[in-house]
Amino acid sequence: MANILLCCSASVSVYKACDLASKLSQEGHQVRTVLTENAARLVSPQLFQAVTGEPAQVSEWGERREGAMDHINLSRAVDLVVVAPCSADLAARLAQGMANDLVTTALLAVPSGIPRILCPAMNPHMLGNPAVQRNLEVLRGDGWSFVEAEEGHMACGDHGTGRLAEPLTILDVVKRTLDQRA
Ligand SMILES: Cc1cc2nc3c(=O)[nH]c(=O)nc-3n(C[C@H](O)[C@H](O)[C@H](O)COP(=O)(O)O)c2cc1C
Repeated sequence: MANILLCCSASVSVYKACDLASKLSQEGHQVRTVLTENAARLVSPQLFQAVTGEPAQVSEWGERREGAMDHINLSRAVDLVVVAPCSADLAARLAQGMANDLVTTALLAVPSGIPRILCPAMNPHMLGNPAVQRNLEVLRGDGWSFVEAEEGHMACGDHGTGRLAEPLTILDVVKRTLDQRA
């Protein structure tokens, strides 16, 4: 059993992250979910809460916070981090070391040495954009592991590489990463 921090950004594929959260939970892991504000406009945190039995959050400000400093509480005692889906915007913010929402602040506070898995998802042209590729390279250099986006039909109608990896593929990488740690 591991403590997993699942961070989700605003990609149309965020619905797949609910399935991933459910699968991780069924494997016996404790899954805490944090969504960006825009991700929470696409899918309710309550759904993640329902499938994981753990709180799912968007902000550490206001009434919905869990503790005094949730970004620290969330990052403490974490065994593994998964960012799925990772939007172009979130990749840019992480590459810059920004801390302007709960997702980025909690991720900055995760102790070094904790495995971090990033699963990009975006339109193929966005993914191929040099600015996005530059940010992903920075994150690779910072020690992030990747579950690469897959090729196929995109919700926008385009065909190419950019689809979020399937939940079972991500689950498999999580399992192998945790096994290596043991
Ligand atoms: C329905 C919808 C689907 C989107 N899908 C994606 C996507 O798959 N990947 C992406 O990088 N941006 C996507 N975007 C754009 C992002 O949501 C936008 O850049 C947003 O600012 C990202 O915010 P976040 O990174 O804080 O979640 C989508 C926007 C909408 C409205």
